[in-house]
Amino acid sequence: MEETLLASIAEEVVSCHKCKLGASRTKAVAGDGSAHARICFVGEGPGREEDLSGIPFVGQAGRLLDRMLIAEGLSRKDCYICNIVKCRPPNNRVPDPAEVAACSLYLYAQLAIIKPDIICLLGNTALRFFFGEQYSIGQVRGTILVKDELRFMPTYHPAAALRNPQYVQVIESDLRKLAALIQPTTD
Ligand code: SF4
Ligand code: URA
Repeated sequence: MEETLLASIAEEVVSCHKCKLGASRTKAVAGDGSAHARICFVGEGPGREEDLSGIPFVGQAGRLLDRMLIAEGLSRKDCYICNIVKCRPPNNRVPDPAEVAACSLYLYAQLAIIKPDIICLLGNTALRFFFGEQYSIGQVRGTILVKDELRFMPTYHPAAALRNPQYVQVIESDLRKLAALIQPTTD
């Protein structure tokens, strides 16, 4: 049931042109993982490798995320992973407010279907989408934030850990907390 609903969103996303990113993308990247996931990860937007493959977090940052998940006993297939915008912003620029607004209905629909226990916000674009400018990642990472009956834990974006390797340990400790928060999945 949830799988079918997620697939219908993905179908809409692949042919979407609600914002100008639709014109420059190769493939739209709807999301990946289990429709029954207890943890959803939300990044910023597809990068080059994601744009080519249509799968989120498969480039360098995604491979680092996979390694960190495994190190903390989490597996990507037990999670759901997606982005604020589903199409690659040219040159990996930060998506603009009109793009974010146009794409947000897909993210809200995905979260409404999956109903995760917790949403891990990867980096400032995801944090700002839900909380505006009131927090920075450095202040609130690893803490639980609640809004509109959704629970969030922000952490650094894995791309930041590629630039600053000392963040790897910090992200891993946040992922450890996330893993401890969730119930075992039933599927
Ligand atoms: Fe549609 Fe989102 Fe892609 Fe814009 S970024 S074209 S709103 S799927
Ligand atoms: N960075 C993101 O924010 N999302 C991806 O899917 C890949 C890299």
